[in-house]
Amino acid sequence: EKGGWSSFMRKEVSEQPEAVRNTLLGRVVDHQVVIPELADFGDEELRAVRRITVIACGTAAYAGMVAKYAIEQWARVPVEVELSHEFRYREPVLDADTLVVSISQSGETMDTLMAVKYAREMGARTISICNTQGATIPRESHAVVYTHAGPEVAVASTKAFVAQIAALYLFGLHLARVRGTLTAEQLAEQLAELQAVPEKLETVLGQAERVGELAHWMADTRSVLFLGRHVGYPIAMEGALKLKELAYIHAEGFAAGELKHGPIALIEPGQPVFVVVPSPRGSATLHPKVVSNIQEIRARGARVIAIAEAGDAAVLPFADEVLRIPLAAPLFEPLLAVVPLQIFAMELAQAKGLDVDQPRNLAKSVTVE
Ligand code: M6R
Repeated sequence: EKGGWSSFMRKEVSEQPEAVRNTLLGRVVDHQVVIPELADFGDEELRAVRRITVIACGTAAYAGMVAKYAIEQWARVPVEVELSHEFRYREPVLDADTLVVSISQSGETMDTLMAVKYAREMGARTISICNTQGATIPRESHAVVYTHAGPEVAVASTKAFVAQIAALYLFGLHLARVRGTLTAEQLAEQLAELQAVPEKLETVLGQAERVGELAHWMADTRSVLFLGRHVGYPIAMEGALKLKELAYIHAEGFAAGELKHGPIALIEPGQPVFVVVPSPRGSATLHPKVVSNIQEIRARGARVIAIAEAGDAAVLPFADEVLRIPLAAPLFEPLLAVVPLQIFAMELAQAKGLDVDQPRNLAKSVTVE
């Protein structure tokens, strides 16, 4: 069943181009998004949405955080992302103008299911982003947009994550069209970017071996930090989560801008830090800020592994290692930058002799609260 791969996780990591391709399949027609599953949500209703609340746990919540940047930019609707288990117990403000979007690979996560039920009771309309046909969460929601990543067996979520972002981006672009916040030309541009992702993912996967070498070299590391900014921030947290759950190594993801508000105190000689660097072309204002963060931590002895766009030479003098991702518009970088982090965590776990498909203490779907 592993199709010749060493683990389900390795197989699923390699299936990411397909996962995105299949999630887009049939949903982009003539430079337009077509989501028949949302037929019940008429344009009038989508125009009336005042606020979107995304509820999810773990990796799915990080997909939601990435999508927040895109949906707000494209559709100009405020989006908040909340962990399902926090949402339900804090008397959230919900009304008929709030759209609640849940994200769950399994569709069975109890925390998210209870949050969806709660949102419905409070009168909100609910859409579920789910990878499992007929699961409980989609059945409890008003509509479902399925991700077509195929079954994900490994406990660590990988291909479902990129498929979730792809589905949420489709939704965001649909919303932008309905609400008239993007021109037809802008929409077509973004859709072209989205459709180019699978091929770029193949390029990133081509570097897996280099990431593996890096992981073997770091097998004795006790703590790893991850920094990112804008859409790179949730990716930093996702990289840290992968490392915790697979390699049992202490890891933290930070917003790079937060560094001097505390986390920089953690930097001591030899501390490995992954930095997700925004594109110098797409994020002309943020790029130099992140490069200067790299200088600051390097000056304090950090070992910097930069994940940077192909051709970005500014990081070279300061990074110990540079992993390259293909050129993409800023909102599409997370889909690519996450891959080396997944592979790093997996390889490091393997170097430590751990079971990457079934890490200790974890279940694939958490069906208890
Ligand atoms: O099935 P779900 O997407 O609802 O699962 C949510 C989380 O439990 C899940 O993403 C978890 O964080 C993964 N093990 C992360 O790799």
